[in-house]
Amino acid sequence: MDQPLVARRENDRLRTLRVYRPDMEGYLLNDRSAKLFDVSGNDYLGLSKHPAVKEFSIECVNYYGCGSTGSRLITGTTPLHKELEDELAVWLGREAVLVFNSGYQMNVSLIASLSDKNTHLYYDKKNHNSLIQGALLGKGTLHRYKHTDYSHLEELLRRHSSTNGRSIIVTESVFSMDGDVADLRVISEIADRYNALLIVDEAHATGVWGDDGRGFAYGMERVDLVLGTFGKSFGSFGAFVACSAKMKEYLTNFCSGIIYTTALPPSVIGSNLGALRLMPDLNHLRTKVIHNAAWLRRKLVEQGYHISGSVSQIIPVVLGNENDSIRVAEKLEKKGFLATPIRPPTVEQGTSRLRLTVSSALPENALERLPLAISESYEL
Ligand SMILES: Cc1ncc(COP(=O)(O)O)c(C=O)c1O
Repeated sequence: MDQPLVARRENDRLRTLRVYRPDMEGYLLNDRSAKLFDVSGNDYLGLSKHPAVKEFSIECVNYYGCGSTGSRLITGTTPLHKELEDELAVWLGREAVLVFNSGYQMNVSLIASLSDKNTHLYYDKKNHNSLIQGALLGKGTLHRYKHTDYSHLEELLRRHSSTNGRSIIVTESVFSMDGDVADLRVISEIADRYNALLIVDEAHATGVWGDDGRGFAYGMERVDLVLGTFGKSFGSFGAFVACSAKMKEYLTNFCSGIIYTTALPPSVIGSNLGALRLMPDLNHLRTKVIHNAAWLRRKLVEQGYHISGSVSQIIPVVLGNENDSIRVAEKLEKKGFLATPIRPPTVEQGTSRLRLTVSSALPENALERLPLAISESYEL
């Protein structure tokens, strides 16, 4: 253990857990009690502090208690779990939904449970670490296509797909570190041509993008499994897969992430349900996020920054050098913004960045000050 830690420290890559305390005015307070605007978190619609969501969560604790008391297959499926799954399935227009404890835990166990030794998995190069861990845990063969390069995807399928094994294509819709978007229509056509199962991780799309926030895969029947999380625009915790009733039955029987863990507690299911019930009425917040993010992207590009291919509320300011990213983040913190630097191994060498996010909870005056604060912290 010592040697890798020493190496991390020597390379200035040691990660530490910093404490940020939310205050009543919507700021995050750092360890010196400085007030910061959050431009790093994933609470895109500000629902983590929505009064109705909090109230419903508290009501659920009062009625059902603090714990779920068992795994989903033992005593952990309360009426709340069923309501959440049923209502989410209706909202997303899918036959069934299965709720998991977190997006990470879902992705690892779900992908592993769908892969046997004849399975070929086709991944976008920038898929989230949880999806990669799932592929490594499963018995299938992993092929990674160049980021959003669908000719490369097709070339790999042509070379490796066979009739005696399942092909599974896995992509994110909004990519978590670059904020760019996959072309689900093209991928669906390819999936059709090669009879592949198509899995789309909508962690950063659900709640914000698509018809009433139902994500980019909404209405796309060719997408077999839609993966979502409650930890981002729902402002809470947990995850779900929307799929066919048969797939839900398979996962309930064979996915270790459902079978071998205590179910999410009533407080969390309650906040997820509370947030879900608000979702159809939040177009004003979605419009604000989308509009403000477009404004920020435009400003940053005008100022000459490289924002990768971002077209969403996730906006990387790619600086390249690791130390530059740390230094700029520190300067921004002194100016009142929490903009976390993202460095290797999370992103590729030479692409260190500030990963900015836009939430509807970010005050307009803070948004307007951000481009100048960045240019004062890092001159091109
Ligand atoms: C694309 C993607 N999938 C899955 C996850 C994991 O979700 P959770 O935070 O619920 O574990 C994340 C979170 O960072 C993500 O960005």
